[in-house]
Amino acid sequence: MQKSACIIGMGRYLPERILTNADLEKMVDTSDEWIYTRTGMKARRIAAEDEFPSTMGAKAAINALEEAQIGADEVDLIICATLTPDYIFPSTACLIQEQIGAKNASAFDFQAACTGFVYALSIAKAFVESGVHKNVLLVATEKLSSIIDYTDRTTCVLFGDGAAAAVISSEKSPGVNLKINRVFQGADGALADRLILPGGGSRVPPSIESVERGDHFLKMEGKEVFKHAVRKMKDVSVQAVEENGFELADISYLVSHQANVRIINAVAERCQIPKEKVKMTIEKYGNTSASSIGLCLCDMQEKSELKDGDHLLLCAFGAGLTWGATVLSVEGEDNG
Ligand code: ACO
Repeated sequence: MQKSACIIGMGRYLPERILTNADLEKMVDTSDEWIYTRTGMKARRIAAEDEFPSTMGAKAAINALEEAQIGADEVDLIICATLTPDYIFPSTACLIQEQIGAKNASAFDFQAACTGFVYALSIAKAFVESGVHKNVLLVATEKLSSIIDYTDRTTCVLFGDGAAAAVISSEKSPGVNLKINRVFQGADGALADRLILPGGGSRVPPSIESVERGDHFLKMEGKEVFKHAVRKMKDVSVQAVEENGFELADISYLVSHQANVRIINAVAERCQIPKEKVKMTIEKYGNTSASSIGLCLCDMQEKSELKDGDHLLLCAFGAGLTWGATVLSVEGEDNG
């Protein structure tokens, strides 16, 4: 019989430095009041100069492996979701593989921006449930501060750094297991330019002119992205709930990508999910792109909020444009 893929361990790493709204007030023409009411953010973490997506991801991965009670040498595949890789190549996944000593693992990066964690679950689930691999390590890790223009108030207040990791396996752990139900996802490349890092790829290689134009900084049409985010996350969330055989009332928690409190609340409202079921880390971490859903799950675990029989609705939206959703069903011991 085919075994279901479950998350059997999770881990995170957050850099120490905290960038508050008060700090940003000294850098650009903004205010704590504007940032908090428009986004729900109060603070975000910023990686040190010698911290990179690979080093942060490796720390999160080690924590996840410890929780899953498996050794690094038992990992068959490392999938790294990041839009801020250490290098264009080699992959950040290979750097993590070396740092954690996962000598039997293959490794690759892929890129679905803020939808990275949800897309990665579908990839890991496919490898595990097809029997190709037993243990897949998903690492979502971002150093967004490296692509942010800290003179542009429309983007610099939004993003933070951090890493989250999950071990996905066909063998359940003695602790909490999160069964990954079917993942639904989509993309619309016609809207690629709405959220883009124009420079640094082969289309706009680095040059004095590209640096002077600021092509190596993230650009976003915030309002436009906001509209699509609400619509697509609502649609894909309803699809993930219904086509996995649940009803919206069965959902214990909404664990959404943390881009804007107003987006999350609008999705929850349209899905008729009450406020007390909506999980948020946005106030303390900001938007950490691919890492945000994993960080939210780790936060829930730390607070012993994952209980046997719970169903968590995960949904995300990001550059591409991309979107995705799934339901995680908690099986096993309470972690309280
Ligand atoms: N401080 C003060 N004022 C500001 C700031 C700031 N930091 N930023 C913008 N403003 C001003 C604007 O200049 C504008 O002024 P104007 O009316 O005089 O022109 C006014 O505030 C309103 O700006 P809007 O852009 O219309 O504000 P909005 O309410 O849309 O909020 C935001 C902007 C927060 C960016 C929102 O649009 C958003 O969250 N968008 C979606 C983000 C998202 O989901 N991203 C996807 C994932 S990210 C990824 O994939 C990498």
